[in-house]
Amino acid sequence: MTTPTIELKPSANPLSDAERDAILASPGFGRHFTDHMVTVKWTEGRGWHDAELTPYAPLSMDPANMTLHYAQTIFEGLKAYRQPDGTVATFRPEANAERFRSSARRMAMPEVPTELFIAACDALIQQDKGWVPSSGEASLYLRPFMIASEVGLGVRPANEYLFIVIASPAGAYFPGGVKPVSVWLSEEYVRAVKGGTGAAKTGGNYAASLVAQAEAAEHGCDQVVWLDAVEHRWIEEMGGMNLYFVYGDRIVTPSLTGSLLPGITRDSLLKIARDLGYTAEEGRISTEDWKRDNEAGTLTEVFACGTAAVITPVGSVKSARANWTQGDGEPGAVTMRLRKALLDLQTGVTPDTHGWMHPL
Ligand code: PLP
Ligand code: COI
Repeated sequence: MTTPTIELKPSANPLSDAERDAILASPGFGRHFTDHMVTVKWTEGRGWHDAELTPYAPLSMDPANMTLHYAQTIFEGLKAYRQPDGTVATFRPEANAERFRSSARRMAMPEVPTELFIAACDALIQQDKGWVPSSGEASLYLRPFMIASEVGLGVRPANEYLFIVIASPAGAYFPGGVKPVSVWLSEEYVRAVKGGTGAAKTGGNYAASLVAQAEAAEHGCDQVVWLDAVEHRWIEEMGGMNLYFVYGDRIVTPSLTGSLLPGITRDSLLKIARDLGYTAEEGRISTEDWKRDNEAGTLTEVFACGTAAVITPVGSVKSARANWTQGDGEPGAVTMRLRKALLDLQTGVTPDTHGWMHPL
């Protein structure tokens, strides 16, 4: 089966340049969408076809669409950054394409070929490049996703799917700048078990997290930290971010056990940290380790990382039985140095020694 070329069917932009610039001055996260979208259909026996770039518009859907009932749905998140010469580049789109394929396999959905995934993102950015913010860490967040499009109530993999890419200008994910977040250790609810869907970027994982996020908020915390589902003591990740623990000049992130998302920021930081002379490792950290090593002063900083959130320091920790301030509760030096190194690479301020940037 061949990869289809994307047919361009753009419209006149619905917003004036001034209206768009007003949005770009303070975009928030995921609140505004660009003028176009890309859609590609998949049909059993035919493969991917009818790839189109069209004006951003609502989807019309049969009430018996299988996604609405059985949740075959996956998504990705990646960013396009304005470079110093005014051009635009995305960060590691091949890695997102690969994870999208792995999520598809877990959810019994068809795989989008990497070249189609990247071509769809590129076509949308090219068309809507006026929406890529021009300064600092602001970016254009791309949201590729796939849903089943077959109509029917039988429980089985659908035989028709829709792959869609939309884009949204992004400022800070957490309003208020780089402010340490408070986290709630979720001991009652679990996110994922081995053999489940935790390593896939599928909607159900996020739906299942919301009640724990609400519990975190009731306890005055910004975010949930998920623990392993068996012993309820090993740190896994946060709702939409991976975690790093800083022991002086050694940084440790929880190993990929199969129940947490293999974050692309997480992977990039293992490499960037080594470039900067830190020891960077994957390992196992329990809630007791966290509390004890923080009290002993050996665990100097903790931070969360992800495409949307970049790098965000953790300032305090709470559970049903304990609560403590992480370090002095302020953003740490290693956290801020890694954050700057990552953003400098993404915005083209420093050279791309890993070949991660994909220029358009
Ligand atoms: N963990 C979860 C559950 C996520 O949703 C995300 C966000 O994509 C991450 C971790 C971080 O992954 P990445 O760095 O690829 O954005
Ligand atoms: C991302 O960082 O891309 C995410 O998907 C996190 C969240 C918005 C779900």
